[in-house]
Amino acid sequence: MANANAEGDAEPMSDPHVSLDAVLVPLNRARGLPSPFYVDPRMAEAERRRVFFDQWAGIGFGKDIPAVGEAMPIDFMGAPLLAVRAEDGVRVFENVCRHRGMTLVKAKTKIRAAICCPCHAWCYDLNGRLLSTPLIGGPGINSHPDVDRTTLGLTRVRCFVWHDVIFVNLSGTAPPFDVVHADLMARWREFDTPLYAGTPGILLLAVRALQLEAGGGELPSRRSEFGSRHHDAILRDGPR
Ligand code: FES
Repeated sequence: MANANAEGDAEPMSDPHVSLDAVLVPLNRARGLPSPFYVDPRMAEAERRRVFFDQWAGIGFGKDIPAVGEAMPIDFMGAPLLAVRAEDGVRVFENVCRHRGMTLVKAKTKIRAAICCPCHAWCYDLNGRLLSTPLIGGPGINSHPDVDRTTLGLTRVRCFVWHDVIFVNLSGTAPPFDVVHADLMARWREFDTPLYAGTPGILLLAVRALQLEAGGGELPSRRSEFGSRHHDAILRDGPR
């Protein structure tokens, strides 16, 4: 097996009962994983880092924060994250105030003006920039020469939204998502349309569903009479 050191990294273990020697052989001779791989918490911690934090992992859906300013906290295997809909797309931050580490957002919410910490009211914009530090210099003084706001924005987590799934790479060390998953993305390119309701994408999705239902192919040339009439109705009246 692999043991886990203090940092959670796997390292060879000398115990023959948890060795991978009998596993990593041709399939017709291979044995199953020794039981510690399933029950040893050190192994779980190593997997948490290697599989989920060092790679791209899906943590939620953009549809759950459809409007600008909407935010939702996500506990990702013990890592407190905050997904926010900014003007130009989804951002993911550590859900932790840069002042004293307070949890910023405890439940899904709509950010009105800024992400404000409940503890001492430090406020951040939707891009994580630190906007204000009330009373940091004393009564009535909201700045301090030793507090450089430009270096104290929220800690941003690398994210990539694909087919409305929010993927993150917590360690920041994985190759770009569209490189790692280039083949997968190519296979699904046909379905690259926005999915959440309230946007023009819903029209495209509805039309596409109608195409499939009607057994049609490319919309302009092969749509059925059924699809054609419903497509026109959707464009005229909107989705129902
Ligand atoms: S802990 Fe957030 S403002 Fe102090």
